[in-house]
Amino acid sequence: MAVTTKEFSLNHLAIIMDGNGRWAQKSGLPRVAGHQQGVETVIQIVDECVSQGIHFLSLFAFSSENWGRPREEVDALMGLLLQFLSSQRQRMLDDGVRLRVIGDLTRLSEPIQKALANAEKETSQGQNLTLILALSYGGRDEIMRAAQKIAQSALDGDLDINKLDNKTFFKFFGYWGYP
Ligand code: FPP
Repeated sequence: MAVTTKEFSLNHLAIIMDGNGRWAQKSGLPRVAGHQQGVETVIQIVDECVSQGIHFLSLFAFSSENWGRPREEVDALMGLLLQFLSSQRQRMLDDGVRLRVIGDLTRLSEPIQKALANAEKETSQGQNLTLILALSYGGRDEIMRAAQKIAQSALDGDLDINKLDNKTFFKFFGYWGYP
């Protein structure tokens, strides 16, 4: 299906990953099989975005609330994430996909933080699609962290709070693909 018409050209697609568990349950499979299938679907969507000339794909993959899931499920999800980063590395480089990550990454394990930082660095020259992975992400959480950074910047004398405008405000947020 083409996503470009004379009037409309899709530039940024955002997807909240959901329903993996229910899909697995319906198919009589364990939840983790649903997550594996979810990753396969993500790979297809990334491919399709590149083919369709969509420039930004934001995937809400793991929310702040998802930390409350059973330990085994969280571990399985982190394992799938690592697997995705290594299995898709070459494909992202070949297809000009640039990976960026948003969220409270300090809650992720050190090996995962390193793998993500490495993938961001390696793919930084990708020109076709920016894939934004929201991990350990929450909207309120992001606003709170931005507020903390703004307050710190004002305390340090680097920011005149009376001159805080829309553009400066968004500089304190994670990467969203906007100037
Ligand atoms: C939603 O299904 C899916 C998640 C909360 C986790 C998705 C994350 C991964 C598969 C990790 C790897 C991610 C990438 C992008 C490589 P659900 O469990 O909420 O399903 P349910 O609502 O049916 O229970």
